[in-house]
Amino acid sequence: MSTVNHTRDRAAALRAELHRHNHRYYVLDDPIITDAEYDVLLRELQRLEFQFPELIAPDSPTQRVGAAPLARFSAAPHAEPMLSLENAMDAGELRGFEERVQRFLDSVEPLAYLCEPKFDGLAVELTYERGQLVRGGTRGDGRVGEDVTPNLRTVGSVPLVLLGDDVPPVLDVRGEVVIPLAAFERLNRTQEERGLPRFANPRNAAAGSVRQLDSGVTAGRPLEFVAYGVGRMEGGLPPTQGELLDRLAGWGFRVAVDRVRLEGISAVLDHCQRLEATRDELPYEIDGCVVKVDTVAFQQRLGQKARAPRWAIAYKFAPRQAVTRILEILPSVGRTGAVTPVAVLEPVAVGGVVVSRATLHNPSEIARKGVLVGDWVVVQRAGDVIPEVVRPLTERRDGSEVPFEMPDTCPVCGARVAAGEGEVIPRCSGLNCPAQLKGRIRHFASRRAMDVDGLGTKLVEQLVNRGLVQDLSDLFRLDAGTLAELERMGQKSAENLVAALERTKDAELGRFLYGLGIRHVGEATAVALAAAFGSLDALAAADEEQLLAVPDVGPEGAGSLLAFFTEEHNRQAITRMLDAGVTLRGPVRAETDAEGGALAGKTFVFTGTLQGLTREAAKARVADLGGKTIASVSRKTGYVVVGEDPGSKADKARSLGVPILSEEEFLALGG
Ligand code: IVH
Repeated sequence: MSTVNHTRDRAAALRAELHRHNHRYYVLDDPIITDAEYDVLLRELQRLEFQFPELIAPDSPTQRVGAAPLARFSAAPHAEPMLSLENAMDAGELRGFEERVQRFLDSVEPLAYLCEPKFDGLAVELTYERGQLVRGGTRGDGRVGEDVTPNLRTVGSVPLVLLGDDVPPVLDVRGEVVIPLAAFERLNRTQEERGLPRFANPRNAAAGSVRQLDSGVTAGRPLEFVAYGVGRMEGGLPPTQGELLDRLAGWGFRVAVDRVRLEGISAVLDHCQRLEATRDELPYEIDGCVVKVDTVAFQQRLGQKARAPRWAIAYKFAPRQAVTRILEILPSVGRTGAVTPVAVLEPVAVGGVVVSRATLHNPSEIARKGVLVGDWVVVQRAGDVIPEVVRPLTERRDGSEVPFEMPDTCPVCGARVAAGEGEVIPRCSGLNCPAQLKGRIRHFASRRAMDVDGLGTKLVEQLVNRGLVQDLSDLFRLDAGTLAELERMGQKSAENLVAALERTKDAELGRFLYGLGIRHVGEATAVALAAAFGSLDALAAADEEQLLAVPDVGPEGAGSLLAFFTEEHNRQAITRMLDAGVTLRGPVRAETDAEGGALAGKTFVFTGTLQGLTREAAKARVADLGGKTIASVSRKTGYVVVGEDPGSKADKARSLGVPILSEEEFLALGG
């Protein structure tokens, strides 16, 4: 076969394959290859089309941005096309970008660039007329997206009405809908506890939440919108991208706080590399750094190519997914007794970190994904979240793979392992299981709980294995002499640890409660409980009704607290901690600081059903923070909190421009 024929066939095959992956990614939210693998295919096609321009077909995936919108939503055409970005995979490609820009502008002056994180979510456009949100659409194929207005209206950080008196009569705002990593973890934990499948990553969860027909479901998801640009902006653009973002922020949008203006591509490259090295510290997932020529007049001269502007590029970070093999699957016992299947992997670098273990979450996730011991699998990590197995590469099986079987006894203490009634997560029933104790100690000492410096995993292992710590209170009785004799411990580090433990004896009630690791009592709930009861005794004596009146405490949390304090074993463990010298500081009580509280002077109206708290508890929370709940909406109303199936009050608030809060945002008020 001639080279040309061969190339033509290869291009056709690549096109077909890319179309298939686009459909899975954009329409089904169910990609079967990694982004990096997709990029490799796309780049190969781009290279072939560059060499043989006659091969470029109008329907080539290189000629458009995404896939067609789903039929079930109505079409939302973009007044100006929503472009994609070209990628720079390394320093050389970033320098190539600057060279092209300078050549095009016929200038060798170093240019100023605005660098923004590349948010890994779902791109949407919001259209405002005279400052009112009239439509919200997905990017779709770049020309026509899906009309998801009712869904986007439920996203708290999407302003329904713009602030300020300089709002353009017509404005299309572009940005990304994302789910912060912590909220994503919570969402997946809830899915897991309800026996529902976990979301693959924050991007898929965000996309699935926006692109579905029931906006009630969207409203319950922890979505955030970050603005990064505009389409139409009547009255013209400000002189720079930086000023554009400032104006967007002024109109009420969230924009990247970590944006920086830098001169010359070397400074930009340094920044990109720094951002990549610190990406795990960010609260949301980013997959690169977007570098934009800052001066709008230059942007306009540079213009665009078919898919992407010439004035911007995405410096891509190392992929967060990699392929490796599962050597074995081990059941691992956590602090709540949950037995998690953990895959032991052939070590592999994922996004700059070598990974040798990944979680498989629970037996039904293993079954759903169809993972076998010995499989080649895709693993992924995000932020400092534990790496996980995404899916097996079934085509690489050779018949030697075997299914994993969850043991029915605890591999550590031998107690029975079983999932509770209606639950998917198997648990070890051993009261004194050393594995649970180790987990409890690590959690108790963790940063957000008691924050004990120097109590690392290896040390906890030794303390429990040698019987030095049999319950949490034993921590406070450790002496430097004993500690100094342990492996990897010297006199100095032993003394430091004893001093750190001594400091934590004076503990905040909220942190202490969180540190106890009571099921369904997360950080926010613990703080709310501390605020509501003020002391451990009052909390331990509370009945179900009193517990349910606390914001953030649902029936599951109340049940779990009652069970915890009923258990004699737990009461004794707490008494022993108090005997060892722990003193608990209650928060400054709400009554005393309500006047200066976070919501002082603000009025609230509730409409619709709240999911996580009763109306009474919500009102109590408003009062605790110094605010007032009223019945009807007027122009003077501070906030309208919208639950499920809201009534006409929500519409009235919208028409009057009163800020609307989702339940989540309401709970986040006042810290
Ligand atoms: S600017 C004309 N800025 O990346 C410039 N895009 O691969 C168009 N994205 O479709 C985009 N963060 O969904 C821009 N700070 C940022 C971004 C960003 C994420 C997404 C966006 C875009 C895709 C391109």
